[in-house]
Amino acid sequence: MPATILIGAQWGDEGKGRIADWLARDCDAMARYAGGDNAGHTVQIGAQKFQLHLVPSGVVHPGVTCILGSGMVINPIRLVRELDMLAAAGVDISPERIHLSTRAHVITPAHLELDGAEESARKGQAIGTTRRGIGPAYRDKAARTGLLTGEMADPDRFSTRVQAHIQRANPLLSDYYGQEPITTADLALEYGEAAQRLAPYLADIVTCVHDVLERGERLLCEGAQGTLLDLDHGHYPYVTSSSATAGGALTGLGFGPRHVDRVVGVAKAYCTRVGSGPFPTEQDNEIGLRLREVGGEYGTTTGRPRRCGWLDGVALRYAVRVNGLTELIITKLDVLSGFDVLHLATAYDLDGERVAQMPVSTAQIERAVPVYETLPGWQTDISDVRRLEDLPEPARHYIARIEALAGVPVRLISVGPEREQAVVC
Ligand code: GDP
Ligand code: IMO
Ligand code: MG
Repeated sequence: MPATILIGAQWGDEGKGRIADWLARDCDAMARYAGGDNAGHTVQIGAQKFQLHLVPSGVVHPGVTCILGSGMVINPIRLVRELDMLAAAGVDISPERIHLSTRAHVITPAHLELDGAEESARKGQAIGTTRRGIGPAYRDKAARTGLLTGEMADPDRFSTRVQAHIQRANPLLSDYYGQEPITTADLALEYGEAAQRLAPYLADIVTCVHDVLERGERLLCEGAQGTLLDLDHGHYPYVTSSSATAGGALTGLGFGPRHVDRVVGVAKAYCTRVGSGPFPTEQDNEIGLRLREVGGEYGTTTGRPRRCGWLDGVALRYAVRVNGLTELIITKLDVLSGFDVLHLATAYDLDGERVAQMPVSTAQIERAVPVYETLPGWQTDISDVRRLEDLPEPARHYIARIEALAGVPVRLISVGPEREQAVVC
């Protein structure tokens, strides 16, 4: 059976973890392909709430094989911590079912410090990164000066390599950014210990992925971040440093497009963004505050309040194009209950002209003014609804408008954070 790619269709935090958990019931293996622990994916099963940063969300399904792909950047300390958290919650974390690519890149303490120092130096122009060392780690990867996860197979040598990496970065930190240099001995030791723990998980994940595909099993590629945070297709420089879009799944895992039969875009019923950068439909007012409070819009990774606004149809159409989405899944429709009217951006006004497609330049999107369609809201709580016909008519109409604007069908509507709170369309 072929592969499904699951993508965030907006600016991240669309509910990918919750949806990956839903789709996991029909898959045999799940792989993360890009990003690192800048991601925070929530899976809620009754009273149990998992916040996953590196391990695929399918890990809570006992039969699902989990792969951490070559396109990822891995902080070994954080991965060990996440595995410990899962084990304490009774999840099977054995290396027989969790495989870490030997070709992912390592986030070192130097990357963490540099991320913070660079953000501080940007002052008013800060990107608002998660300060998890993501950008500096991908920079080293591209410059061919990075450390591969495969090096953890020899923990002593790895420890020395981490120490050398820190020592190379120290002059930049102290002389250029005016920070204290990092003291290496304890950190290198800690990294060596983490390597010892992680070495049994190291695997050739190209073989893992192709074994899954050749056995006729279903692979789900769990995207992190979102389409508009993609390094190439988001609004640079207000992006992350990896390929968050569908193409990233192929390069990050090492398989070809002929294996993919579904590309599923996850979108919230409204929009959020955390960090700086353009956000045309942002509501920096009572509406935005209400969405934040009702939707619990605080970062899973950093706890930062998320910026909130109306659903952006231009952004959705862009996500359909850039990823080749075959379908959409809408989350958090329950959060919109109680609004008298809803606004949905169908186009932008750019310098006096109406544009229906996403402007390519960051300067243009910063000037774009959304053109809204106004739709009736609904007043009833929909979190217990499980059938499409039981949704209030205005809610069904809202979904129909999303389908018309995006040009692809909505296959699932999530009406709450818990596993069964969903409506199959
Ligand atoms: P991800 O990064 O895309 O996996 O999303 P996050 O986990 O960072 O953020 C999504 C948040 O919304 C989490 O707290 C989820 O538990 C929650 N959530 C997901 N789907 C729904 C939904 O349909 N309704 C509500 N109210 N909350 C949801
Ligand atoms: P999930 O997978 C939301 C944002 C940061 C910042 C920009 C660059 O949970 O949807 P980085 O640390 O990657 O260099 O930060 O990207 N960002 C996210 N926003 N959800 C995420 O992941 C994000 N990962 C990065 O806030 O604006
Ligand atoms: Mg998140």
